[in-house]
Amino acid sequence: MRILVVASQKGGVGKTTIAGHLGVMAEMKNAGPVALIDTDPQGSLSCWWNERQAEAPLFASVDIANLKTHLQQLAKAGIKLAIIDTPPAVTDTIRDVLAVADLVLIPTRPSPHDLRAVGSTVDLVERAGKRMVFVLNGAAPRAKITGEAAVALSQHGTVAPVTLYQRTDFAASMIDGRTVQELDASSKSAEEIERLWSYVFTQISKRDKVRTNVTA
Ligand SMILES: Nc1ncnc2c1ncn2[C@@H]1O[C@H](COP(=O)(O)OP(=O)(O)O)[C@@H](O)[C@H]1O
Ligand SMILES: [Mg+2]
Repeated sequence: MRILVVASQKGGVGKTTIAGHLGVMAEMKNAGPVALIDTDPQGSLSCWWNERQAEAPLFASVDIANLKTHLQQLAKAGIKLAIIDTPPAVTDTIRDVLAVADLVLIPTRPSPHDLRAVGSTVDLVERAGKRMVFVLNGAAPRAKITGEAAVALSQHGTVAPVTLYQRTDFAASMIDGRTVQELDASSKSAEEIERLWSYVFTQISKRDKVRTNVTA
């Protein structure tokens, strides 16, 4: 089972949106079964999931104190991918969650304020010794700052070669427990998520290869 953690100490950057969307996309691409895990006390991901009609992805209520055991149980039950959404704060929860990650995805909005705030998240992930990938979210079409933000982020680590643009369907679809691809699979947002999933999947799979080499 692979474990993808979506983290950023900044609120409103798209963690929950991306966690839910990648979960649905992974199922559509037969990379499931996927279990979504919400470690944010605000429970936005779990609220969204409760609104869903579709059964997949699954939602797993996980007790942070027993996170490792619960993840082992999910793996035993045949879950192939766990996606963990996190709260926008530095808490012990975040550290515990980062410790189990195969890959950490850090959504960032292309604004000077968000870019300045990214350092503390990077520090946490680096201290946990985990691989991270930034994804620019909520970009305005043709805005110069998007490219500048990518350059700034690349000083800290890898930037996903896919930017998610500011589009109302990302918010609208989640109101009733869906995703942009479930609203309109041919939309630009759906295409962005498909490309982001494909990139994230490659990154997580790479990690598996490294592990195999180490144990061989
Ligand atoms: N690419 C996007 N386009 C439009 N709205 C977005 C986009 N990404 C996120 N949002 C909206 O921004 C708000 C914050 O997103 P959310 O996923 O809850 O962030 P976080 O979990 O990091 O706090 C939500 O209302 C969400 O619908
Ligand atoms: Mg959230």
